[in-house]
Amino acid sequence: MTTSRLALRGLGRRFGSIAAVDNVNIELAAGEFLSLLGPSGCGKTTTLRMIAGFIKPTEGTIEMNGEVLSSPATSRPPERRNMSMIFQSYAIWPHMTVEQNVAFGLSLRKMTSATAREKVARMLDIVKLGHLAGRYPAELSGGQQQRVALARAMVIEPGVLLLDEPLSNLDAGLREEMRFEIRRLHDEFKITTVYVTHDQAEAMVTSDRVAVMNQGRVEQLDTPHAIYNKPTTRFVAGFIGRTNFFEGQVANGVIRFDGFEAPISLFPFAADVKDRVTLSVRPQNIQLSKTPPGSSDRPLWTLGGTIVHRAYLGEYWDYLVTPDGSGLQIRVSTSPAVTFEAGDRVFMTIDPALAVHLP
Ligand SMILES: Nc1ncnc2c1ncn2[C@@H]1O[C@H](COP(=O)(O)OP(=O)(O)OP(=O)(O)O)[C@@H](O)[C@H]1O
Ligand SMILES: [Mg+2]
Repeated sequence: MTTSRLALRGLGRRFGSIAAVDNVNIELAAGEFLSLLGPSGCGKTTTLRMIAGFIKPTEGTIEMNGEVLSSPATSRPPERRNMSMIFQSYAIWPHMTVEQNVAFGLSLRKMTSATAREKVARMLDIVKLGHLAGRYPAELSGGQQQRVALARAMVIEPGVLLLDEPLSNLDAGLREEMRFEIRRLHDEFKITTVYVTHDQAEAMVTSDRVAVMNQGRVEQLDTPHAIYNKPTTRFVAGFIGRTNFFEGQVANGVIRFDGFEAPISLFPFAADVKDRVTLSVRPQNIQLSKTPPGSSDRPLWTLGGTIVHRAYLGEYWDYLVTPDGSGLQIRVSTSPAVTFEAGDRVFMTIDPALAVHLP
């Protein structure tokens, strides 16, 4: 397998006055799986199409194994990049069987038909379609068609695999199953992969690292764990999962929030703080109790409040709690066993180590 290193350096693409992609810098190690994650219009597809060679950058370069493939001056054509791309509408040929679809890419390469047949058969086994080799796409489920597209893209053993929202046509259950499938295939083949999605769970399940994009720029490039637990910007904290933002003003050793306060010494970031502070606290990192929590081995942040709303989601309770003296509504998630009624007086307890300080 000839898996490749890939580098995007100062990559940019303008369309008229719009910077669709703006100074993107990403280096992928050989065999790495990276997601480009972000809202509609943030530049994911444009970045992917530049990597594939369908669009030329207006700034920066794309390198594969140290060789420049794209720059504003030059662009190697897609068919000479040793990459496979799966588009959102994954377009497998309706008039060809599963086997013929997968063999199609190989027919353009020089190899004996016995070798090709062997490769196709092995790939069909890997995507669990061996028993359906003779079927036509119309006779397959959405997930099976998706696996044909994956097999076709991978059988040519590309140096880089590019996928643009490959699961968006599938229903929720199948999407969840296919995420694991895509990661399993990656673990087996270790093809350097760039995966475009606006679904955070998809990015987190499949990827070694995630690049969160916003308005053409990469806001944070990190492991799924760090993206979720150590977001570095407000955008990332809010885009990846649900969170509460606490905005405060620092004076005389306390942070004054909307109607409540906390001693700044409580927080591990106390030394870095200037005059304004924004904290991100995940709903599941706030404990609810009827009485103030007992003593603990380290200082906790406790706020009195009132339950204003609740929703039961089966796997957890979702509460909205207003702190005493405040107009804020704090979202708190608890296990299904922790039950409060709207109007109940409660205490919210936060471990300061789980409050993320956003610059
Ligand atoms: N050919 C083009 N001409 C002009 N503007 C374009 C062109 N292609 C993309 N854009 C603009 O560039 C920006 C980024 O588009 P892109 O398709 O990369 O977004 P995306 O992140 O893939 O979004 P989505 O999740 O909706 O697919 C958008 O504002 C889009 O309107
Ligand atoms: Mg797109």
